[in-house]
Amino acid sequence: MDSVVIAVDGPAAAGKTTTCLALSEIFGLQYIESGRTYRILAFEALRRGISPEDRPSVISLCDELIEQSRARSQFAVGGYAPQDLRSAPVNVTVSTVARIAELRVRVTELVRTWAAACAKCVVEGRDIGTVVFPAASIKFYLTATPEVRAGRRIAQEGGGAYEDVLRDVLRRDRADMSREVSPLVPAEDAVMIDTTELPLAQVVDRMVSVCESRGVTIP
Ligand code: DC
Repeated sequence: MDSVVIAVDGPAAAGKTTTCLALSEIFGLQYIESGRTYRILAFEALRRGISPEDRPSVISLCDELIEQSRARSQFAVGGYAPQDLRSAPVNVTVSTVARIAELRVRVTELVRTWAAACAKCVVEGRDIGTVVFPAASIKFYLTATPEVRAGRRIAQEGGGAYEDVLRDVLRRDRADMSREVSPLVPAEDAVMIDTTELPLAQVVDRMVSVCESRGVTIP
């Protein structure tokens, strides 16, 4: 296979990052995390006191960050600590920011550019198999019950009362699935994996088998 794009979509904390990183390692693929771009936009909007409801200002913030990141395969200049991008305020703001159609067009374009630069990649997000790469060679849609996802989030990131984390997972599901532009839905041709009762190592095994059966080779 000359070029490979593996799309991995699904709701928050369904195991996308863990499995994408494993696939990236196993098959030597570049890993592209589209959610990080939305998170940086939310983080910068908060830092600069821009309301996420103020669409023109959020869009010009996005244009400014794109300008800064020309010729880089990373959005925006400067390091962002994972704990900053995953804070509770960012979790809330990112859902509002991700509803802005003009912003989604820009992020889609960025992700396509990054993917084009690296021939073989695995791309994680919410609309990768449906909007960003509708012709991706392989698509996965991971899901799990909100309760299991909340439990995993606490185990992975530590901290947070279970009830609060569960409420946030449910809120983000609603926001992701009900927005007008690019709502979270499985692509028709996605391989669906319910990870509720599967350890993530087994989920990876399943994904690896699918990839191999579709001609992706281990280098
Ligand atoms: O994958 P994540 O949890 O880091 O994503 C953060 C938010 O960004 C998520 O709540 C919705 C949004 N997002 C999106 O709308 N489309 C994507 N392709 C990726 C993320």
